[in-house]
Amino acid sequence: MIYFDNAATSFPKPEEVIAAMKDYFFHVGGNTGRSAHQAALKASEIVFETREVLAKLFNISDSSRIVFTKNATEALNFAIYGFLEKGDQVITTSLEHNSVMRPLRHLEIIGKIKLFIVSANDKGIIEPKDFEKILKREKIKLVVVNHASNVTGTIAPIKEIARTAHKYGSTILIDAAQTAGVVNIDVNEDEIDMLAFTGHKSLFGPQGTGGLYIREGIELEPLIRGGTGSNSEEEIQPDFLPDKLESGTPNTIGIAGLGAGVKYVLRKGISEIHQKEAELTECFIKEAEKIERVILYGPRETTKRVAVVSFNITGLTPSEVAYILDQEFGIACRPGLHCAPAAHKTIGTFPQGTVRFSFGYFNNISEIETGIKALHKISRRCV
Ligand code: ALA
Repeated sequence: MIYFDNAATSFPKPEEVIAAMKDYFFHVGGNTGRSAHQAALKASEIVFETREVLAKLFNISDSSRIVFTKNATEALNFAIYGFLEKGDQVITTSLEHNSVMRPLRHLEIIGKIKLFIVSANDKGIIEPKDFEKILKREKIKLVVVNHASNVTGTIAPIKEIARTAHKYGSTILIDAAQTAGVVNIDVNEDEIDMLAFTGHKSLFGPQGTGGLYIREGIELEPLIRGGTGSNSEEEIQPDFLPDKLESGTPNTIGIAGLGAGVKYVLRKGISEIHQKEAELTECFIKEAEKIERVILYGPRETTKRVAVVSFNITGLTPSEVAYILDQEFGIACRPGLHCAPAAHKTIGTFPQGTVRFSFGYFNNISEIETGIKALHKISRRCV
């Protein structure tokens, strides 16, 4: 199989990720923070170490400001529902995934918040000045921005948007589902207040892992309350992080794998990973744009995007193309709306969607060439 669906989840994972999870099952056991025996202490050490390497990756000075979640969606829900109150106003973009759009639309429908949408252009590019127009005239509590679109791959200018938001006293939440591990993120340099990330994409962890960074000074109301292993004498939720937002036994085996994935990223270096993926993307776009009947979406320049490329073949639906690619060429990709209907409306591909190739660090040029040959064949067939 040629795996071009890394935006959905990365595959394969580095050996050490699997080794760390195996080691946990075979030699660790124990429940983090729940007892003082050696197995529980070792589990706590693994969780702590993963928090620390994530803090290093994102330049977070206090790792207790990172809470583990089961994915980016849960992290975004914790941030959105935990931060917003009745009467608040929020800005988001027309490129958001439903992990942002659905909670915000829900709060809008029940009359809790007022929502403003900044539209991207048909290439998926958003302009900081469009945020400023709204921030200037409205009191905005929260700005939520997708760091890179899972449809067009476009990387948003988050630093400029954050600076603009802060100028008007607003708070910024970044959805880094498609960028954590492949685009450099520095919460201080990029002025990020809250950062939601997933563990199973470019951080190479297993599914069921993710997290939320919350800047000091921001208080979130927990969505879930329960046992934390701390303050057990109290029937009231602890008010300190990470415990405040981490009730119940965590996915410790997943966190062990995530820790190994983050260490792998730190060892390879974000710039090397990014450069390799950019080369694969450039090679694909350069050849794909020559194929008759192939329509590519998103910006032409690979500097403006991650390794996510949406396209269509005239005369075939995205599902038909993906089915042929899978069945006849052994190429795995994702067709349709990618849980981001607003992004597809923005680029004019709603409701049919697109075929999406998303490359990863473990793909190679020869696989890209095979993909291009397959698209040539499919496109010739539908004349
Ligand atoms: N959000 C993931 C994707 O884009 C699952 O496929």
